[in-house]
Amino acid sequence: MRRWALVVGASGDIGAALANQLAADGWSLYLHYHQNAARVEAACAALSAAYPKQDFLAVPYDLTDVAHLDDFIGQLFAVDAVIFAAGQTYYHLFKDTTATELSALFRVHLLTPMAMLAGLQDKLARSGQGRVVFIGSVYGAAGSAMEVAYSAVKGGQSAFVHAYAKEVASLGITANVVAPGAVATKMNRQFDAATLAAVQADIPAGRFAQPGDVCYFVRTLLDPAAAYLTGQTLYVTGGWLQ
Ligand SMILES: NC(=O)c1ccc[n+]([C@@H]2O[C@H](COP(=O)([O-])OP(=O)(O)OC[C@H]3O[C@@H](n4cnc5c(N)ncnc54)[C@H](OP(=O)(O)O)[C@@H]3O)[C@@H](O)[C@H]2O)c1
Repeated sequence: MRRWALVVGASGDIGAALANQLAADGWSLYLHYHQNAARVEAACAALSAAYPKQDFLAVPYDLTDVAHLDDFIGQLFAVDAVIFAAGQTYYHLFKDTTATELSALFRVHLLTPMAMLAGLQDKLARSGQGRVVFIGSVYGAAGSAMEVAYSAVKGGQSAFVHAYAKEVASLGITANVVAPGAVATKMNRQFDAATLAAVQADIPAGRFAQPGDVCYFVRTLLDPAAAYLTGQTLYVTGGWLQ
């Protein structure tokens, strides 16, 4: 039977790596993007050529928009797994955070994903093996100065799956968070080399994660054999901040 996963943020570095790995595992994919259509369209073409028996569809949506979710959900005919791998952050003191920034962070990381899940739950329940995974952050537990609001919404993702997992376990749906430490992606390009080196020196594993280090655990959670792990946050940090 064809299994369909929605990768929210498939145009990001973690999402793109995940799409490649899930395709190799036999999944058909909805590859979501916001602004980077080119990356997702190229991925759809490459994956369709590599895996001609699977389907790969590009689906755009601005996660700050909660008004058009029904249209977005309506175009997805089957969904067996959803992975929320979109995200953004702002790096400054909390006292300088604007209401617009707070709204964007809450919508992108929490509000729209939660509303999306409410609309997708019946589809996720159909196989009896539905899977929900958020790419969270170790900051959701440890907290980070200069990224206070980001830390709050990442902690919110963990709190959400903790509760939601209880409500959908009888439907065979699991809901978990994979929470990375520092990952070598474009999200960290705003930092200069000295700052990145200081972070790296603090990571017991001695390096930033590669997207594949994170994807491994998402793939594992999507395996039908992972049905008994739910409501958890897995910290994939190389030992950092723990
Ligand atoms: N990199 C790290 O060190 C790190 C550490 C811990 C957790 N994380 C988490 O991992 C996840 C993926 O991050 P990444 O490092 O792969 O980041 P990335 O390469 O910068 O990708 C960000 C993704 O989020 C999407 N996105 C941003 N704003 C959006 C919006 N308003 N509507 C819809 N999509 C939006 C982007 O879409 P477009 O490009 O198409 O606009 C892109 O797909 C995020 O949740 C992040 O918080 C990252």
